[in-house]
Amino acid sequence: MTNPVDLEAWKALAAHHDDIKTTHLRELFAADPTRFDKFQLSAAGLFLDYSKNHLTEETHRCLLALAEASNVTGKLHSMFSGEMVNPTEARPALHTALRNRGSEPVIVDGQDVMPPVRDVLERLGRFSDAVRDGSWTGYTGQPITDVVNIGIGGSDLGPLMAVEALAPFAHKRLALHFVSNVDGSHMVSTLKKVNPETTLFIVASKTFTTQETLTNAHSARSWFLDSGASEADIARHFVALSTNSSAVTAFGIDANNMFGFWDWVGGRYSLWSAIGLPLILSVGMERFEQFLQGAYDMDQHTRTAPLAVNMPVTLALLTVWYNNFWGAHSHLIAPYDQYLHRFPAYLQQLTMESNGKSVHVNGSAVQLATGPVVWGEPGTNGQHAYFQLLHQGTHLIPTDFIMALESLNPLGIHQELLMANCFAQSEALMMGKTKAELKAEMQAAGASEEDIKQLAGHRSFSGNRPSNTLLVQQMSPHALGALIALYEHKVFVEAAIWDINPFDQWGVELGKQLAKSIHHEMEQKNTVSSHDSSTNGLINRALKLKNLLA
Ligand code: F6P
Repeated sequence: MTNPVDLEAWKALAAHHDDIKTTHLRELFAADPTRFDKFQLSAAGLFLDYSKNHLTEETHRCLLALAEASNVTGKLHSMFSGEMVNPTEARPALHTALRNRGSEPVIVDGQDVMPPVRDVLERLGRFSDAVRDGSWTGYTGQPITDVVNIGIGGSDLGPLMAVEALAPFAHKRLALHFVSNVDGSHMVSTLKKVNPETTLFIVASKTFTTQETLTNAHSARSWFLDSGASEADIARHFVALSTNSSAVTAFGIDANNMFGFWDWVGGRYSLWSAIGLPLILSVGMERFEQFLQGAYDMDQHTRTAPLAVNMPVTLALLTVWYNNFWGAHSHLIAPYDQYLHRFPAYLQQLTMESNGKSVHVNGSAVQLATGPVVWGEPGTNGQHAYFQLLHQGTHLIPTDFIMALESLNPLGIHQELLMANCFAQSEALMMGKTKAELKAEMQAAGASEEDIKQLAGHRSFSGNRPSNTLLVQQMSPHALGALIALYEHKVFVEAAIWDINPFDQWGVELGKQLAKSIHHEMEQKNTVSSHDSSTNGLINRALKLKNLLA
């Protein structure tokens, strides 16, 4: 593949940026009152207003030319059809097969994977129904009241985010808990809340080798047995979600209590698989099917919509536009929905573990910026934390506002205030307030000329700060599924344009390797000297201050 920066379309965008970079967004709206109608899309129940961007029809044409030149359509087809889009791990990436509601087969190594996918979903449904209706009981014959998911990364962030997002649909008897950190406090603080007789532990790990998860799982197992349960009782209180059945059995979980998935499901793309069991237990299989349907509907849009009206392609092109031509390497996710409070954290793994890469698919070093830093908290809280920087700081930080028009908890004027704040923020970021407008405002309020002179610079707003606004009618299981799939495909299209592999994560290996060797050294209880002076110093200080030295 041609180096993206050598593409004519890339060079044309750079030239176009020179033409447009001094045009204020205010000017674009003043010149074309139909921008809102012109730059909006609807798909799978989601509505996108992308008019508040540094974007003209010429920009759109240039961006679409880059998508064409990057073979985005062909690469999307390759992913959906199970080709090896993850060459460094010699795997396809078929999270889309997990939510395939159609009748068409999905072939991997000559086999249709849909029958086993449907079998696992069937087993998950039966198990979830039994736990939810109380027929699955603990070793003292009582129904399950608490579910503890033990996992990390994609085996935690997705199910946790989704359970929180769909909390209003949660089973009344089941309390869901998530333990991920190897910090003992995470497990201890959770175990304090639950009764071993009525607790179900889910050990969620695609590889079943992750240090944090196995350490936590062994501690939970010990706690369970120390509480008076027997080895035989484990079968009623521990299930596993993994691709590694031999490791699951070796841990001591019955193979019948394992719900499997496949190596062509990436960890950060696995919420649709057995990893979604906490969500299925919380909201039930019927709603989980609606969740899958929402993602499937977004998949169908992504596969069939022309690039010019393709929602994930549009979002991806805008990120490439700001990341590679406007120098914006930070992207804010602003869900104006308290139940989506873990959505930015989930997107951090999805986007930054996928596109935080510095080599092209062929292994050559990139000569362009790849994945930006993604972060965020729910609105309106962000307005009282970091929106100052967004409005008057020196950094360009494109923002995605996400909001449901209907609250799942209608309460007086709360939803109207939430919506007003969401719309106001994107308007303020875009329009700003000029010094002239500020001066008139302060004069009308009777301010002295001295005050006006002194404060004009401090109280005016440059504006010209872009954002997208995504609206759904209500944050239903279907809407959440569509929203997540939208971002999954956005990430893929970004990677297609940057010509990087979004599905591997070699960057996590070095830290794991060093942690293992440092832990081994610390267990020897001797001072260490095998590292740099800082690392040696830190380890030896810890050993000394914790009286760990032999
Ligand atoms: O962060 C590295 C990683 O491999 C992620 O990709 C993955 O989601 C997480 O660790 C947990 O892996 P596993 O599900 O295999 O325990």
